[in-house]
Amino acid sequence: MTFARHDYDAVIVGAGGAGLFAALELGRAGAKAAVLSKLYAVRSHTGAAQGGICAALGNREPDKPLWHMFDTVKGGDYLVDQDAAEIMCEEAPGVVFDLEHMGVPFNRTDDGKIDQRPFGGHTRNFGEAPVRRACYAADRTGAMILHTLYQQCLRAGVEFYDEFFVTDLAFAGETVAGVVAHDVRAGELHSFRAPAVALATGGWGRLFRVTSNAYANTGDGAALALRAGIPLQDMEFYQFHPTGLHGLGILVSEAARGEGGILRNDAGERFMERYAPRLLDLAPRDMVSRAVYQELQTGRGLGGADYVGLDLTHLDAEVLDKKIPEITDFARIYLGVEPKEEMIPVAPTAHYAMGGVPTTVDGEVTRDEEATVVPGLYAAGEVACVSVHGANRLGTNSLLDILVFGRRVGRAIAEFVRGGKGPAWPAEALEGRREKVARWRDTAGGPAVAELRADMQEAMEAGVSVYRTAESTAAAREAVGGLLTAYGDVGVGDAAAAFSTELLEAFEVGNLLALAYVTAASAHRRTESRGAHSREDFAARDDARWLNHTLCYLRDGELEFRAKPVTITRFEPKPREY
Ligand code: FUM
Repeated sequence: MTFARHDYDAVIVGAGGAGLFAALELGRAGAKAAVLSKLYAVRSHTGAAQGGICAALGNREPDKPLWHMFDTVKGGDYLVDQDAAEIMCEEAPGVVFDLEHMGVPFNRTDDGKIDQRPFGGHTRNFGEAPVRRACYAADRTGAMILHTLYQQCLRAGVEFYDEFFVTDLAFAGETVAGVVAHDVRAGELHSFRAPAVALATGGWGRLFRVTSNAYANTGDGAALALRAGIPLQDMEFYQFHPTGLHGLGILVSEAARGEGGILRNDAGERFMERYAPRLLDLAPRDMVSRAVYQELQTGRGLGGADYVGLDLTHLDAEVLDKKIPEITDFARIYLGVEPKEEMIPVAPTAHYAMGGVPTTVDGEVTRDEEATVVPGLYAAGEVACVSVHGANRLGTNSLLDILVFGRRVGRAIAEFVRGGKGPAWPAEALEGRREKVARWRDTAGGPAVAELRADMQEAMEAGVSVYRTAESTAAAREAVGGLLTAYGDVGVGDAAAAFSTELLEAFEVGNLLALAYVTAASAHRRTESRGAHSREDFAARDDARWLNHTLCYLRDGELEFRAKPVTITRFEPKPREY
């Protein structure tokens, strides 16, 4: 095995919207930046974001960043850090204009402005009624943004290492020194020395069997941090999107409801009238997912089956063809359903991690409840928990989060690396990984990683889904704990080979298992219901005990929990009604 050595000012791990915007800012600042991704950049999961990116532009009706901030805080069930939410909502219009100037082909109003449509939980005047805040490029908004940023990065001289899987963070003492990466094509390890490393690897929907997330969404960046002794924050808050294509989980954008689509049960009833009388189908998605789940539990799925109907049959054909062409095609291609004539079968699908690697508002990773910064380590996007989404994210705040904080991370690193070259490469950094890969190669007959993954997904689906209990979360935690132990004995037949998908899956499943364990344990510990964390045995929100962030460490197989204060600036917690 040979080791290739590289030297950069900054290494960005992950090539979705957050990573690319960070890299672009570094390129613009003249820094030497490398983007490492296990995929090709334009295959990143940002490309699957459909419905839009929100910003209080006020192009269709009056709107204000402060209303946007209020909706974000209330939508997140008051677990949002309000300083971060204020920054995000204030910077949103500037980010959208930046994208527009780079060439993102947003849909337009008749008078040529960026068009905007309603999305769940976004309101005018502190909750009065839905507001048109989501800027969109049909239902391919993420793909358009991803391609545009990639082109701009190439123009700015950013270097890309496609199909490089980052296996380890390297440290000199407590300071980041770079990363170790596995070159998938050659089957070799490389060292990348850099004074700054940014994690931008996205989410981990593959913890669950039914998910809107790509196969690649295995939480690699969050697991890198966890293995380095950094806690993960608020992992119990995992979002289920109410409308995944039945059986497959593929996203059917909330944009469909923004354009007038209605959820109906077997009796044809618009059941959201009972659950959210004011915002109806455009309530925040934790509430809509619970409503769908309850309809299904009480036997009101279509024909008694485990899905409800998304009714678009009353909408103009032109709306379907021009504003939501991709999802209507998904219904035709995957389920053989014609949305102009019949309802689309949908059910909740695992979608988004509100929790992740704790950071400051400039994306600096922090290691404890006092927000002590890990020098040189940054994170942005879904892998990070800054925390702008609190206990439940509003639709279209995800594209916004990755771009606002990706851009801020790029700017912060550009400033940081002006201070010097950082520590020397620690010689031992590659050794541990090299030995582990060699051990895997030499181990025959251990448990198959595919089986460990399937068992984990069953345990998580059963125990840590839309609703949870003490029993269900404990069962998931125990089951996943057992799988983590079994993972210690895996063997990988072609561990040294080029394009060893078996080796990549071994890396990924190890990462998923660690995150599943932390998620189940965090969900077990929080004995209240807040946002996407709905405990059947503790149905009420409990601000007296639980208005704080969870920090969870995993060291040598042992869990440790700490509480971190929530930053409240403008909006005191109130009951959440829609
Ligand atoms: O429904 C959607 O288009 C999803 C958007 C989001 O997760 O922000």
